[in-house]
Amino acid sequence: ESEIRVMTKSSTVDLVTKTDERVEKIIIGSLKEEFGEGTFIGEESVAKGEPCILTDKPTWIIDPVDGTTNFVHGFPFVAVSIAFAVNKELEFGVVYSCLEDKMYKARRGKGAFCDDEPIQVSDVKDINKSIIISEHGTDRSPEKVTKIFSTMQKILCIPVHGLRGSGTAATNMCLVATGAVEAFFEIGIHCWDIAAGAVIVKEAGGILLDVDGGPFDLMSRRMISANNETIAKRIIKEIEIFPVVRDDAP
Ligand code: IPD
Repeated sequence: ESEIRVMTKSSTVDLVTKTDERVEKIIIGSLKEEFGEGTFIGEESVAKGEPCILTDKPTWIIDPVDGTTNFVHGFPFVAVSIAFAVNKELEFGVVYSCLEDKMYKARRGKGAFCDDEPIQVSDVKDINKSIIISEHGTDRSPEKVTKIFSTMQKILCIPVHGLRGSGTAATNMCLVATGAVEAFFEIGIHCWDIAAGAVIVKEAGGILLDVDGGPFDLMSRRMISANNETIAKRIIKEIEIFPVVRDDAP
């Protein structure tokens, strides 16, 4: 397409394009064709008012374009993320990093793969030898931005080797899974950004936690994924938590 028509959602920096909507329709259509009617939680369907509640029913959780801002600007990290949950447990996840042309996938108990090669998290335990990813998200209220930057400053000054961010949560999680970085955390992400990545990180030997150190909750809009507990807990010490509305809030 010569021109991408950009629309906004929750804020003026929360972008969506016709491509997001089209890709989601194509994915849901082909899943229905292949596997019959099912339950779907898709980023753009939810934006249009569909429910975002994870039940025990077999459920597909879809982000058609993760990294929409990158897509709009031509910043070369964009992913498609598809996960499948049964009884509220994630069974498998697939992340396709479109411009790198890399297909990441994992199934519960069966390991994680990138283009059919097994992948594993890094074995770094020393926070001073780590690279950490976080993102700024799409909420620009000054109090939240201050907390995000304060957290980043503290982490940078631990010190760590570096702070990064690809602009797509799904790709960030795959970077944890391959061992390119030690951890990725964010407050403000949605279930469709991280559902597939969660299976991939776990199956690559990593862990997922809430940003307060409690158990990971897919619908809470906050999480840290890391190569191991030592790194995760060290980062958690620095995270300044701010409130977000859950994905499944009524
Ligand atoms: C966004 C990306 C980004 C993250 C945002 C997400 P989207 O997803 O994953 O990395 O910081 O919180 O909303 O909107 O491009 O699908």
